Amino acid sequence: MTNNRTASTMTNDTSDSSFPAGFLWGASTAPHQNEGNNTTSDFWALEQLPGSVFAERSGDALDLYHRWKEDVDLVKSLGLTAFRFGIEWARVEPTRGQFAKAELAHYRRIIDYCLAVGVEPVITLHHFTSPLWFAQAGGWGSDEAVDRFGDYVSAVAPILEGVTWVATINEPNMFAVMFQMSTPLQYPDPAAIVAQINESMAPVNGDAGINSFTMPEPESIPTQVMIAAHERARSILREKTSVKVGWTIAVQGLVARPGFESELSRYQWVWEDVFLDASKDDDWVGVQSYTSQLVGPDGLEGAPEGVEVTQTGWAYRPDALGLALRHTWEATGGIPMMVTENGIATADDQQRIDYTTGALEGLAAVLRDGLDVRGYLHWTLMDNFEWVHGYEKTFGLIAVDRTTFARTPKPSAYWLGQVAQTNGRSIR
Ligand code: BGC
Repeated sequence: MTNNRTASTMTNDTSDSSFPAGFLWGASTAPHQNEGNNTTSDFWALEQLPGSVFAERSGDALDLYHRWKEDVDLVKSLGLTAFRFGIEWARVEPTRGQFAKAELAHYRRIIDYCLAVGVEPVITLHHFTSPLWFAQAGGWGSDEAVDRFGDYVSAVAPILEGVTWVATINEPNMFAVMFQMSTPLQYPDPAAIVAQINESMAPVNGDAGINSFTMPEPESIPTQVMIAAHERARSILREKTSVKVGWTIAVQGLVARPGFESELSRYQWVWEDVFLDASKDDDWVGVQSYTSQLVGPDGLEGAPEGVEVTQTGWAYRPDALGLALRHTWEATGGIPMMVTENGIATADDQQRIDYTTGALEGLAAVLRDGLDVRGYLHWTLMDNFEWVHGYEKTFGLIAVDRTTFARTPKPSAYWLGQVAQTNGRSIR
C-alpha cells in the first residue's frame, strides 16, 4: 500500500499541482548547434570566412547527428517527457531542388524512436540556418524565399506522420535582427565585405550576445518574408499532415520605463507583436524567454548598471518567463502556448536550478490564472555551439566532453527530471 502510494507520487499524479495532466517537460536543441558538420549550410560557410565574427567554428558540435539515440535515451532516463530537435534544411536539400531521401529517413528514425520510447518529439523546421545555396540566392531577403521554403516543407511533410508539435521557424524576430550577418554570402568574394558587415553587426556580436539589447531592430523585409513563409508552411502542413503548427518567438519581457508607454508599444510591435499577431491562426505558439528589459526613449535598454548578469550579459531575471507568457497570451488573442526555450548561460549549475525554479514558479502562476500552456522545454539539453560565442557559454543541463563526446548530466538535469516526474510539485 505504502509502496503504491509512493509509486503514484513519482509519476504524473496531478493532484495539488498547478500543472495540468499531460503537461510536457523536456529540453530543446537545434540542429546546427548540436549535430556537427553541417557543411552545406550558410552558417558553416560564414564560420569559415577569414575575419568571421564567430569566436570558433561549430565543427563536430556534439555529434548529435550520430548520437541522437543515446541522447533520446538520456532524455528518457532523466524522466523528461519531451525532446525538441530540428530538421536541418541544408541536409535535406543540400542542392536546390535535390531532396536527400537518406536524410529524411534519418530524421524519421529519430521521430520513430521518440514515439516508441514515449518521448514527445517537438520539431523545428528552421532554426536560423539555411542551405548555402538559399543564402547565396538572397536568403530571407529574396522574393523566392517563400516558394523555396514551401518546397522544403512539402518534402518534409511525409515524415511527420504521428508528430503533434511542429514549429515552422525558430525566432524569426531574432533572425530579422541578424539578417545582415548572412548577406556576405550573396557576393562573389564574401571575405571582402565581411569586415564591413561585422562592423554593422558589432552590437549584436559584442559581449552581450545575440539576444541582446543594443542590437539593430528586426529588418522589415525578412520580417515580412518570414511571416509569408510561415503562413505558406502552415497551409502545406495543414493540407498534408495532422500536426499542430506554430512557430517560436523570442519574447523579451519588455516593460515601459515610466512615461515611455508609447515607445513600448512601438518597439513591442516591431520586435514581437508583428510576429505574435501572425500567430493568431496557428494551433500554438512557442515562447522563448531569457530576460526582461526596460524600454525607454532610445528603445530596449539592456541590463541596467550594477544588476546581476549571466554569461551572455543578460540581466538575471527568472521572472521574465511569466511576463513573456502573459504578453504572448494577450498579443495572440489567447492561443495555446508552449515554453520552447528558457534557460541561463552560467558555469554555476546551482544558479541554473535557482533561475529555473523562479521561472517555473512564474509559469505555475500563469497556469493558475487560467492561461493555456502545454509544456516547458528547457534551453538547452547539452552545452552546445552558442553561435557567435562558440562553446564557451554554457546553457546546458548536460556537460559534453568535446573530444570524446561523453555526456555528463549536471545536477540541474536530475533536478528537472524530478520536477517532470512529480508534474511540477517538486519545484521547491
Ligand atoms: C536561440 C538559441 C540560442 C539561445 C541562447 C535563442 O535565441 O533559439 O539557438 O542558443 O537563444 O542564445
